[in-house]
Amino acid sequence: MIWIVPVLVLLCLLFTHRWRYSKEPPLERGIIPWLGHALEFGKDASKFITRMKLKNGNIFTVHAAGRYVTLLLDPHSYDEIINDPDSLDFGRYAQVLMERIFNLHLPLYQPEKAKAMMKRHFMGSSLSTLNSSMNRNMEILLKSEMPHNQRNWKQEGLFHLSYSLLFKAGYLTLFEGEQNNNCTDPSRVYEEYKKFDGLLCGLARGSLRKEAKATAYALQRKLWELLAPAGLGKSSGSSPWLHAYRRLLQDDGVDEETQRRAVLMQLWATQGNVGPAAFWLLGYLLTNPEALMAVKREFGQISQMESSGTPLLDKTMKTPVFDSVLEETLRLTAAPFITREVVREKTLHMADGRDYLLRKGDRVCLFPFVSPQMDPEIHPEPQKFKFDRFLNKDGSVKKDFYKDGKKLKYYTMPWGAGANGCVGRQFAINTIRQFAYMLLTNYDLELCDPNAQIPKADVTRYGFGMLQPVGDLLVRYKPKEA
Ligand code: HEM
Repeated sequence: MIWIVPVLVLLCLLFTHRWRYSKEPPLERGIIPWLGHALEFGKDASKFITRMKLKNGNIFTVHAAGRYVTLLLDPHSYDEIINDPDSLDFGRYAQVLMERIFNLHLPLYQPEKAKAMMKRHFMGSSLSTLNSSMNRNMEILLKSEMPHNQRNWKQEGLFHLSYSLLFKAGYLTLFEGEQNNNCTDPSRVYEEYKKFDGLLCGLARGSLRKEAKATAYALQRKLWELLAPAGLGKSSGSSPWLHAYRRLLQDDGVDEETQRRAVLMQLWATQGNVGPAAFWLLGYLLTNPEALMAVKREFGQISQMESSGTPLLDKTMKTPVFDSVLEETLRLTAAPFITREVVREKTLHMADGRDYLLRKGDRVCLFPFVSPQMDPEIHPEPQKFKFDRFLNKDGSVKKDFYKDGKKLKYYTMPWGAGANGCVGRQFAINTIRQFAYMLLTNYDLELCDPNAQIPKADVTRYGFGMLQPVGDLLVRYKPKEA
């Protein structure tokens, strides 16, 4: 009977082992059964993917936690993934994340319907109302942090300042609408959300230990409670988009508890990235004096034209230097995975002429952070912050970047692309610009230690949108004297 164990192991290997068929991308199984490369992937996805790219080239399949994920890293071929809704499905993958992170099961999940509604509220003519409201909330919150008659420096971590202020302003703008007495205190929502945010990547990967998981679920329950009234007030008072989102869910027969879970998911989608992006932008400016001078000069020209209060920096205001700084900041710190589930076997036609088969049931993932964003052929000295990287010599916007001698359509991709690209993009850009303008024009803002360096990024957050720093960058600020 002793032979039965090796035979069982052999049978098990035979049935669970995946063989690479011809025309399929190189396969990286990893040596640990089922787990495969999951640990390395979760620890520092960028380092792992860069190593695999050096070994296998621009396409390969990785086995991780029982799944097979094909990484495609040639930006010339990205449209093959972004523009194929027939074989590749975003919704199914999103549904898995919704369940894992938010405990959310939407039986009639129709991303297209929700997306169309969001476009109506976040883009086009609604945008200027949203911008004014966000501007007002930012100003009120900044003044409450630092009244204009204050003469002493206030010392604070720049990440804390940027994330907490923009989260609260965004929450008031998008989740509360007109202020009223029943308004949930945005500081409480932020405090709980921030703790939840720290556990979010672990929840998504399914890698949290028992206690951390229990903490994450307790935080979720607290946030559901805090968000319970959001979007339910009279339509004139509550935020119009959240009101419409609630109505959409109600029309689909979604119960009250599930609605709260969905509202928490929207809090993450709309508030999770702007604060960290603003932190990196200001952090790079404060640690690069030449860049800071150039942006201040550009903002100075705007403030000279305005005599009454802080102007609303709308589309008509041209700020090419700031735009380049933001593009460069996001190139260095925006690191989302763009993932789709393969719902029908697909032949992927690479730009170099090779074809690869993608198997039904696998996932396919783009990681633009590795290429194009950190690709030295496209962006020389990619680790370095160069504020004018996206400016031509004559000061116009630079859009011509090349790989393999061919001009690129995608030379940086912080917002995703195609039908599932970010719907809040313009709102986010306006918000960060307005926040930077307010801080740099109305306040003296400087590093506490003039030699401080920008903190390193937390490498466990690759794949989840904007990176966050390890630690913080200590700054001090006070209102400018008139
Ligand atoms: C710096 C800030 C932001 C960054 C870097 C960012 C980036 C992204 C990315 C990469 C995606 C996923 C694209 C894909 O999977 O293909 C996304 C989706 C989304 N973003 Fe943003 N985003 C930001 C701010 C915002 C804001 C302020 C809002 C709303 C007010 C917003 C709303 C959304 C929504 C609703 C989706 C999901 C779209 C869908 O269902 O297809 N984002 N964002």
